[in-house]
Amino acid sequence: MAKLHINNSKKKAVIAPEIYGHFSEHLGRCIYEGIYVGEDSDIPNVNGMRKDVVEALKEIQIPVLRWPGGCFADEYHWKDGIGPKETRKKMINTHWGGVVEDNSFGTHEFFELCRQLGCKTYINGNVGSGTVQEMSEWVEYMTFQGVSPMADLRKENGHEDAWKIDYFGVGNENWGCGGNMRPSYYADLYRRYQTYVRTYDAQKPIKKICGGANVADYEWTKTVLDVTHDHAPDFVHGFMDGLSLHYYVHPEGWDIKGSATDFDEKCWYKTLGKALYMQELVERHSAIMDQYDPEKKIGMVVDEWGTWYTVEPGTNPGFLYQQNTVRDALVAGITLNIFNQHADRVKMANLAQMVNVLQSVLLTEGDKMVKTPTYHVFHMYRHHQGATLLSSELTDSDVISSEEWNLPEITDSVSENEDGIITITVNNLSATDTKDLEISLAEGEYHVLEASIVTGEIHAHNTFDAPETVVEKAFDRYRMENGKVYATLPAASVVMIRLQK
Ligand code: AHR
Repeated sequence: MAKLHINNSKKKAVIAPEIYGHFSEHLGRCIYEGIYVGEDSDIPNVNGMRKDVVEALKEIQIPVLRWPGGCFADEYHWKDGIGPKETRKKMINTHWGGVVEDNSFGTHEFFELCRQLGCKTYINGNVGSGTVQEMSEWVEYMTFQGVSPMADLRKENGHEDAWKIDYFGVGNENWGCGGNMRPSYYADLYRRYQTYVRTYDAQKPIKKICGGANVADYEWTKTVLDVTHDHAPDFVHGFMDGLSLHYYVHPEGWDIKGSATDFDEKCWYKTLGKALYMQELVERHSAIMDQYDPEKKIGMVVDEWGTWYTVEPGTNPGFLYQQNTVRDALVAGITLNIFNQHADRVKMANLAQMVNVLQSVLLTEGDKMVKTPTYHVFHMYRHHQGATLLSSELTDSDVISSEEWNLPEITDSVSENEDGIITITVNNLSATDTKDLEISLAEGEYHVLEASIVTGEIHAHNTFDAPETVVEKAFDRYRMENGKVYATLPAASVVMIRLQK
């Protein structure tokens, strides 16, 4: 039997709520249809935002939303998306599917969406094809309250009060779609562009995110920090608050990717093995960050992660629309446990993407909406937001071997909230075998407050006709004995157990 020992006297870092963040790009049916349908739509909406989608997202306590891209960010010119909608520019979204972008969702609409969601704002600026002036004016437009050309323009466009930008990304994937730059060149541009991302209101500081590496490009991380480090050796707050990292799981590699729903057991383990690779990435990039920033003032911001499969048959290849199965639930559970376990360095993460694109939490079709298995995992894990990570150790847990992949059979993370409630999230990675788990605590007497599970046959998923095939259900396969919890984890499951004194 595997054993999970929780040392609840050993408290670690606070788990930033932002680790449970999301990402919405002008890509396929994420923004248009998925979130924004316009005020005149028959689909119930508030100021153009779908009511069903907003309500569902509020239930998972979405903490922060990144917008407008992605690759789209480095082609986005914000002035195209303000003012009367009928005069906004129409253009082709060259990057994603070649469809018409009518700019009806712009800056005002983004802040309205975040207001409805009650979440923090993460705006990604354009370094690849935009100027310093354009970026600087955007920040002025959004956040300056006094008299100035951009603040006046915002007021003319109907918004008197300055908004709050919580996070601002200085470019996106500047090693690729954001300009194909070399790291030292981008690092110099970062120094320059960030200078003009001004915090106008000291009560509302803007946290700046520097564009980080693709997957295992450790050279990028090292060079960017090297070039910026001499400028601000202490990484004084206001120069660089975060460094991003992007990593996607492509089961069969970048070229083939693989089907979202049609896969064999080997591919199940390959996918989960690739999800587990996030741990190595976080640790190796962190080790480089530690050399320049031993006090961990700069957060690692994994602002794009998730599964990336071949698109659903018959859909626009540029729309990146894919189904979401129990396999995705496991990828989410594994990855979120890794982020929790590294809460001292990982300060934000944004699942790609929120609705209808890649590993979405929600899928829509007309006026219908369905919650994916990934959604239910985010709902279970929401209890970790803002809680304190506890030291935990898994022993007597076997390794599952499949082809070149060796996977732990179970992964975990454990946190304690302000009320002393302990949340344990564990995953059984086996596609076939039930696992028994003994859970013990170093101190205190606890009882189970609540427990839930997301599980199913490995290909199981929700459709518009059968939206409740994979849902979060009450979990009762446990007993308490001598202060320990004995749980039986079904194959392919994500389980949450909450303990209270
Ligand atoms: O999320 C889809 C795309 O993946 C983003 O636009 C880009 O940043 C990344 O390559």
